Amino acid sequence: MKIQHNISLKQYNTFGIDVNAERFVEITSVMALKTLLSKEKDLFIISGGSNMLLLSDIKKLVVLLNIEGIIIQETQEDDVFVTANAGENWHDFVLWCISQNYGGLENLSLIPGNVGSCPIQNIGAYGVEVKDTIHQVTAVEISTGKTRIFSNKECAFGYRNSIFKNELKNAYIITTVAFKLSKSTHQIHDGYGAIQTALKEANISTPSISDVSNAVIAIRTSKLPDPKKIGNSGSFFKNPIVNKVLFDKIQANYAHMPFYKINENEIKIPAGWLIETCGFKGKRFGDTGVHKNQALVLVNYGNATGVEIYDLAVQIQAMVFKTFGIKLDIEVNIVP
Ligand code: EPU
Repeated sequence: MKIQHNISLKQYNTFGIDVNAERFVEITSVMALKTLLSKEKDLFIISGGSNMLLLSDIKKLVVLLNIEGIIIQETQEDDVFVTANAGENWHDFVLWCISQNYGGLENLSLIPGNVGSCPIQNIGAYGVEVKDTIHQVTAVEISTGKTRIFSNKECAFGYRNSIFKNELKNAYIITTVAFKLSKSTHQIHDGYGAIQTALKEANISTPSISDVSNAVIAIRTSKLPDPKKIGNSGSFFKNPIVNKVLFDKIQANYAHMPFYKINENEIKIPAGWLIETCGFKGKRFGDTGVHKNQALVLVNYGNATGVEIYDLAVQIQAMVFKTFGIKLDIEVNIVP
């Protein structure tokens, strides 16, 4: 365990923000993590760095969590339990599952980041959330160094939300995630419009999990910027949920507004549409901007600072509020 000094974090966060870590250490095993915790508790954990916006240099000890390994834990007739360590790259893990013909994660193909962060924000795409397949989450408590296993229910998953973003924020370090995946009878989630279109174009009527994954990869590649080329953190805001009164008021002026009805009184509106309607889509301000194909994604064209991106986000929030009376919540973790 070697502590390094003055390391740039640019390559460790997908936004590509160049802030300095005064002290930096890479951890590759749970044992090393526990040893570290017995000495230091004021840590800043980075894994895939895919859901954070860094505003300034980090004074805490930065820990790059790089614990790798995948284990097939137990197989049943129709299901299989697979555990993956936190440092496994998410997309590589999804592809590995597909290569084994294990179903459940294919709609979540190409999401940036590592396995360890997938439960924190309950990653989701194209009609599937990771909570649907998570069996349990193993984490180490920072204050005691003790291991705790969280059942799916104990994770208190919600839309882009979990206990690890709320009551237990910064209290635990996730080391392993166990998934329950299908082995023979796969449930195919191809109801999402864009997936149906992609499958139709490829002339596929009874898609396999691999076909769904390929369709998702094609859609994501066409709509979302590759963080290796243009810094970004996926959806910057959550899709807001509004009540029927406000919804009706907005719809009276915008008849073509897309929406998803949640129940009689709650309607989800795509934040990307709100931001586009306010005129921000594709706009560039210095090295920051709003992506040209998906207005929900803020980008760093090279040398933007975290503060510049945050300022743009605040400007967008203000304009959306002024135009629609809707407060957009930021989905990305802002690190002051
Ligand atoms: N839309 C616009 N303009 C835009 C973007 C979207 O009008 O610039 C409209 C689209 O026309 C469509 C609707 O908004 O009618 C929904 O768009 P899309 O299918 O792209 O999905 P989204 O609701 O904007 C969510 C997730 C994405 C996920 C997609 C697909 C959130 C915050 N975002 O986006 O997740 O990939 O659905 O399931 O829920 C992420 O979290 O980082 C992420 C990329």
